Parts: sequence; C-alpha cells; structure tokens
Amino acid sequence: ELSFIHRIKPATEPGKPPILLLHGTGGNEDDLLPLGGMIAPGSALLSPRGKVLEGGMPRFFRRLREGIFDEEDVRRRAHELADFIAQARESYNLAAPIAVGFSNGANIAAAVLQLRPEALAGAALLRAMVPLQDPPAADLSGKPVLILSGASDPIVPADNARRLASLLQTTGATVEHRVLPTGHGLSQTDVALTKAWIDQL
Ligand code: MLT
Repeated sequence: ELSFIHRIKPATEPGKPPILLLHGTGGNEDDLLPLGGMIAPGSALLSPRGKVLEGGMPRFFRRLREGIFDEEDVRRRAHELADFIAQARESYNLAAPIAVGFSNGANIAAAVLQLRPEALAGAALLRAMVPLQDPPAADLSGKPVLILSGASDPIVPADNARRLASLLQTTGATVEHRVLPTGHGLSQTDVALTKAWIDQL
C-alpha cells in the first residue's frame, strides 16, 4: 500500500522519463493528468494527492497564510513525498522522475530538490517560490530545472522567484528561468515551453 492516494499512467514509449505531477492548492491526483499527456506524451505519469487539507482543499504542506509557510511541515512533507517516490519507483518499476509542479506543487518539488535531491531527476517548477528560507546545502549538480514565473503573478513576487532560481543554481542545478507575460494561472506558453524543455532532456 503506497503512502499517498495517487494515479499512475504507465509509459507507452520506452526511454521517456517518468513525470511526477504535483497539483496546486485545491487540486487532486486527477488535475494534472491532461497536462502531463500534453507535455510528456508517452511518459509514465505518477500523480499523488497532497495530504494536507486547508479548508477542505488538498495541498502538499501547511502554510500560515498565503506565501508564509510552516517550514517544519515543509520539511516533514518533502521527506514523506520523497519516500513515496521511492516506494512508487519500486512498485511501478520507474526511473527517477522529473517533477512537474504547479504553485503549491512546484513549491514542494523545490523543497524535495533541496532536501532529497536523489528523489528527482529534475523539475519543472511552474509559479514556484522559495520553500525554505534556510535550506541545507544540497548537491544538485547536473539536475535540470525549469522555472516558469508570471510577470503579473499576485502570489509570487518576482524577486522571490529569482531568488529560488539563484539558490538552485548556486547548489549546482542547471536552471532555466523564464518570466512569462501572465499571472499565477498557467498559459499555453507554459505548456509549450515545458514540453520543449522535457523533449530536450
Ligand atoms: C503555497 O502555499 O504553496 C503558495 O502560496 C502557492 C499556493 O498554493 O497558493
């Protein structure tokens, strides 16, 4: 019995990297499956539901309010998610996945990169912010990371996303950070850029 409610869609093409889909606040394990099919056709898709409830809305860690995180919970939940990834890899015979996270899902993916880098082969972080003010000095050498921010995102301040990009880069990740002319929601450009980034991995 795996430790998160989840969906698994087996790969239909060999050699494509498995994708770990991480939804935003109020989402669930079904939400990002269509996105996964668009950005990574043929890849295995693994999509857990966040275990923390905020007014009935699933998410991946607790926050005190918008943009202010319970960092002790961020750490605990990032380890829990990394443990789930390891279990799921064994059950479904998967290589280390590329995380594709949106909003709260992007933030937990960033925390997993910093706390358990071996859990992920890389990550596309859509509308991410800094999850931990004082992260451990992880070695992210060679891990590809795509960060897509919205220039008019009311939730993620521009300098916060830049700080995340530079934190990950400083610890060795190969970071591509693009700021799109949009808000917090995803656009067709996000889909196209994420697909192109996955295609060249
Ligand atoms: C978070 O709580 O992770 C961020 O505020 C993004 C969100 O889920 O709204």
